[in-house]
Amino acid sequence: MDKKDLPPPFLDLVRDDLVRSEALLHRRLPDQHEAIGAAVEHLVGSGGKRLRPALVFLSSHLCGAEQEPATFAAAAVEMLHTATLIHDDLIDGALTRRGIETLNASWTPGATVLTGDYVFARAAHLLSQAGNIRLMSRFAETLMIICNGEIRQMFDGRHGETTFAEYERRIYAKTASLIALAAESGPILAHSSEEQIAALRTYGEYLGLAFQVVDDILDFVADEATLGKPVGGDLRQGLVTLPLLKFLAVHPDHPAIRRVLDGDTSRAAVQEAVRVVAASPEAIGGAQAVAEEYIRRAKESLHGQCFRPPHGERYRAALLSLADFVVRRRF
Ligand code: IPE
Ligand code: IPE
Ligand code: MG
Ligand code: MG
Repeated sequence: MDKKDLPPPFLDLVRDDLVRSEALLHRRLPDQHEAIGAAVEHLVGSGGKRLRPALVFLSSHLCGAEQEPATFAAAAVEMLHTATLIHDDLIDGALTRRGIETLNASWTPGATVLTGDYVFARAAHLLSQAGNIRLMSRFAETLMIICNGEIRQMFDGRHGETTFAEYERRIYAKTASLIALAAESGPILAHSSEEQIAALRTYGEYLGLAFQVVDDILDFVADEATLGKPVGGDLRQGLVTLPLLKFLAVHPDHPAIRRVLDGDTSRAAVQEAVRVVAASPEAIGGAQAVAEEYIRRAKESLHGQCFRPPHGERYRAALLSLADFVVRRRF
């Protein structure tokens, strides 16, 4: 799929909603230093798929949440995502994102960290305006899970032996937890039954796991210009993701891979290792099969639930189509 194919069809249903949450994301606060204003604008204005706010709106419509709190929650979730990206790019040493320079490409680590912190606080402030303590508490828990997961990845995830269970735990923390928060926002705001909140959360968890598996595949097979961010970065950092795990299961001692995992992160060594993994059907096909299984479970969690008439079916169909998009996406 090419970027020109955007927007995916499920976005049609929430186009007007997204316009409102975008306005909140771009709002400048009176006391904000101009450097922070420019940095936030640089990031928020650079695009992104807006998958997480779309999920907040779809789950809100599905369950009948009110428009205003849903809009604050959608903006808050995207702001939280933006903050995690600021810190992630600093940690990963990534110089491009969404096709433009990252903050850390030109700012000091100190200024980058502080801007990320500011954006986290902006996210919390936005969410507080949704006026829902339960959602606020889930937001705080999610942020703890993400930070804890990043620390675990940093201390235990590189150069070590990685099992599938550890990999799954890691991608749950860094990605699925936030996507699950977006998906459960609607039923939480609508005061839906516990059963429906759990169904949407399960949907979001599996969707998020699939989303990160696909991101990890794209780190091997994507074209950098379409992706808008560097390719091969995970391997360069010695981070073992699912395509590599699948590859190592069949070729445990492949010299091109061992060389990089043993510390040769020269451009030529990383490029060769990426080429070898990208060309392996066991690696790419094996990881894609795992993503598809997660998507199957995500969709399954929405079956058998009776969502709010008259539009419940329409939004359930949109969430199913969003799940298909996640596993097929190429950017
Ligand atoms: C990037 O998320 C970080 C991951 C969880 C892999 P997205 O791929 O949703 O990034 P944008 O918002 O579309 O740029
Ligand atoms: C997702 O992991 C990071 C966060 C959720 C913060 P990646 O490190 O794979 O994300 P990209 O590839 O840089 O977008
Ligand atoms: Mg990264
Ligand atoms: Mg990645």
